[in-house]
Amino acid sequence: MTDHSTDHDVIDVLTTDHQEARELFDQIVGTTDPEQRRDLSDSLISELVRHSVAEEMYVYPAMRDHLPNGEAAVEEDTNEHKQLEKLMKELEGADASEAAFLETLGRLRTVFEQHATDEEAQQFPQLRANIPADKLVELQGKVETAKKIAPTRPHPASPNAELFHKMVGPGVGMVDRLRDKLTGRST
Ligand SMILES: [Fe+2]
Ligand SMILES: [Fe+2]
Repeated sequence: MTDHSTDHDVIDVLTTDHQEARELFDQIVGTTDPEQRRDLSDSLISELVRHSVAEEMYVYPAMRDHLPNGEAAVEEDTNEHKQLEKLMKELEGADASEAAFLETLGRLRTVFEQHATDEEAQQFPQLRANIPADKLVELQGKVETAKKIAPTRPHPASPNAELFHKMVGPGVGMVDRLRDKLTGRST
């Protein structure tokens, strides 16, 4: 599990999120049990939707305000989030016991990796360079609160599973239901 004790500001939190997503991709590929693949994929989708919504609510507006090329960067990143969402919806509906499932997962992973690597190499360092440290810490709080609105782990073995299924439920439509929960509660 990822250690959160070194998270100091919003950039640390977002980078940790990316790292957790990478670990989940590895775990999904690393198991052959379809049920486990389904559960881990639901966790991955939940993580990525929460991360994307929090970025769009708090981080992308800060990029727009503080980065020299902010407007263009936000437009590009938002488009990539839409691509990710489309692929997550495909994955929601995919049969975890079929070979095509891993093919869909692979396409999601490619787009995610490109997007996350870009953020880590370009936008995150620019945010650090252009935004005062106390503002980055304030953004950390906002992002963490936004993400908490939806439960994190739909895995049946986790204490959050029951809450997750009550609030969101797995399977087709999960991306949209999660996004509604996250944005509806915060506006
Ligand atoms: Fe993003
Ligand atoms: Fe991100």
